[in-house]
Amino acid sequence: MTLSTTIQSTLLRHNQAITTALQAAVRKAEEGQSHTLHAYYGQMQYHLGWVDTQLTPIQSNPGKLMRPSLLLLAYETAGAWGLRDETASENNEHLRRALPAAAALELTHNFTLIHDDIEDGDAERRHRPTLWKQWGIPQALNTGDGMFALARLTLWGVLDEGVGGITAARLGAALDHACLVLAEGQYLDISFEQRLDISVTMYTDMIWRKTGALMACAAEMGALLGTQDEKTIESLRRFGEAMGVAFQVRDDILGVWATAAELGKTSAGDVYRRKKSLPILHALEHASTHDQTVLREVYTQETPLTSEQVGQVLAIFAQTKTRAYCSDFLAQQCKAAHEALASVPHYHTTISARARGDMETLVHFVEETGRS
Ligand code: IPE
Ligand code: IPE
Ligand code: MG
Ligand code: MG
Repeated sequence: MTLSTTIQSTLLRHNQAITTALQAAVRKAEEGQSHTLHAYYGQMQYHLGWVDTQLTPIQSNPGKLMRPSLLLLAYETAGAWGLRDETASENNEHLRRALPAAAALELTHNFTLIHDDIEDGDAERRHRPTLWKQWGIPQALNTGDGMFALARLTLWGVLDEGVGGITAARLGAALDHACLVLAEGQYLDISFEQRLDISVTMYTDMIWRKTGALMACAAEMGALLGTQDEKTIESLRRFGEAMGVAFQVRDDILGVWATAAELGKTSAGDVYRRKKSLPILHALEHASTHDQTVLREVYTQETPLTSEQVGQVLAIFAQTKTRAYCSDFLAQQCKAAHEALASVPHYHTTISARARGDMETLVHFVEETGRS
């Protein structure tokens, strides 16, 4: 089996359960509402890949569902609340306890994407026009805000699945904290656009906030639902954090070097946008004096970059072996993720062992796609 088929089965294993929970959450919100709100919920569904621009049901790319998958895998790794091999059922009954949190997390992620596309001025996501491009910024903001609130309402569904009030409150606090840290990260990311003096340490702190925090939250929430053992909860949270940082570095690598077909958005888009991601930080430090001047000029000029200038930047990246540096950086983050996972106590059930193996596969997937 190739890595990509392994990752497919790893990521797809809980997809159906997550999608069903997500659809139920959106349906419940719309239930009983007047027809005048049909298009409002239609916009949520458009972003989630369930309908087209006419709000007709279709099957479009709903995203990888990485965060809710990670939440469910962390829940299983942490013992799935005392599940034993003898009591495990074929139809994954044990997931019920964690599914409201998984759906809440994916809704939160999608809310951040809607706002992020407005902030970045991106016209495409998942191979389709972004919500703001299709319906305008004010209505896209309303859809994003509604999704944020719906995420929290969906999370409280854990109370109907037997989760105790204190654990539910910890889940809510973890999600709120992650949203706050993520917004800090988005703030830093945008503020870096005006500067050329960003160090790799500043960059790592920024991506830890904008991407690591929600991934850490995914693993922590799964662990909180699976066990009361604080060591397990902390180790899984650290795993999610390292995965999140690795995942953003991978995204930054793809943002420069992946083709438009692979990306679902413009190729070399991060160079066009002059995003202060890892590649440019490395190149600015390691280019010849002449090339540093070129980079500084190109990254501070008033006018948009021409395709020739983008070519020039890419050539300097090649000269400075920037891609190899980024891949090494990614490998280090992946190593931290493996180490965090290795420190999680073993729960000695078939489901826990399988989930642990799947989390290893997730790390390999992130590492593999970022390799030159
Ligand atoms: C995109 O996340 C935003 C980042 C933090 C890099 P994903 O790549 O997980 O997005 P989808 O949900 O699979 O489209
Ligand atoms: C996305 O960051 C992070 C969040 C949505 C919080 P980026 O702006 O780097 O990600 P893409 O490339 O648009 O998915
Ligand atoms: Mg963006
Ligand atoms: Mg952004």
